Amino acid sequence: MVKKALACGLSVLFLAFASTGISMSASEAVPDELTLTSSDSDKKPPAFFPHKMHQEAFDCGECHHGMSEDGKQVAYAEGMEIKKCEECHNSEVLGDRKSGKYDMGDFKGAGHGNCLECHRKVAKDDSSKKKLRSCGTCHVK
Ligand code: HEC
Ligand code: HEC
Ligand code: HEC
Ligand code: HEC
Repeated sequence: MVKKALACGLSVLFLAFASTGISMSASEAVPDELTLTSSDSDKKPPAFFPHKMHQEAFDCGECHHGMSEDGKQVAYAEGMEIKKCEECHNSEVLGDRKSGKYDMGDFKGAGHGNCLECHRKVAKDDSSKKKLRSCGTCHVK
């Protein structure tokens, strides 16, 4: 991983970051802020997602995981290939599955099951963060 970063010519910076234990080749590939859109629905504005801020606060495995050949969820492990949520959370791959009240066969279900569930929890524990669970916090106009 460090090798890949070095190849990008940012050796000094990356070595400094590498020592913090953060997987830099992976975080280098992803912009600090993402705009998430569902390919099959656009009732709401896209979800704004400050990735870097979350990356600094939580383990990668809080949100990223993989899938085994027989279709089971596989926990995140350092160095694992990270795919876009919709590569699995679409009607063809996981269309018949639910997790609690969330449909696993679309980005909305995966996004709400992950993002919204955590935001609700944080808002419940700390009333000063109530805003985190409102639609407009993520679906910014
Ligand atoms: C709070 C949730 C969350 C955390 C924590 C998180 N990520 Fe992400 N990450 C996402 C989401 C959501 C995307 C966008 C996926 C998509 O476009 O479908 C993403 C995208 C990425 C991508 C780009 C994937 C692609 O093909 O576009 C990489 C690489 C990545 N994350 C690496 C990491 C690493 C490494 C960590 C830990 C240091 C981490 N992420 C922590 C939620 C998270
Ligand atoms: C490689 C395939 C794959 C990718 C990529 C993937 N998932 Fe999943 N995910 C699964 C599978 C399989 C399950 C288990 C579904 C079931 O049987 O309940 C699952 C379950 C979930 C669940 C419910 C269980 C839990 O852990 O809370 C959520 C929420 C979720 N995924 C969100 C996401 C998000 C957000 C992303 C993108 C950052 C993502 N997934 C990327 C395959 C994937
Ligand atoms: C494990 C918990 C967790 C998950 C999962 C998570 N978040 Fe967050 N999110 C937080 C916390 C905590 C904050 C910052 C609260 C604070 O310090 O004010 C935050 C802040 C934000 C903010 C900034 C709000 C502001 O202050 O303007 C946005 C936007 C956001 N999250 C979107 C998302 C999206 C989209 C996802 C899923 C792709 C996601 N979050 C997943 C916990 C989470
Ligand atoms: C913590 C972040 C977060 C919050 C809060 C949130 N969503 Fe989402 N929502 C997402 C993500 C991520 C997706 C999948 C990417 C996308 O389509 O924007 C999504 C997708 C959707 C979709 C499907 C895509 C579309 O635009 O048609 C709808 C509808 C939706 N959300 C409605 C809501 C409503 C209503 C609320 C308030 C009750 C809400 N969301 C609150 C993160 C959030």
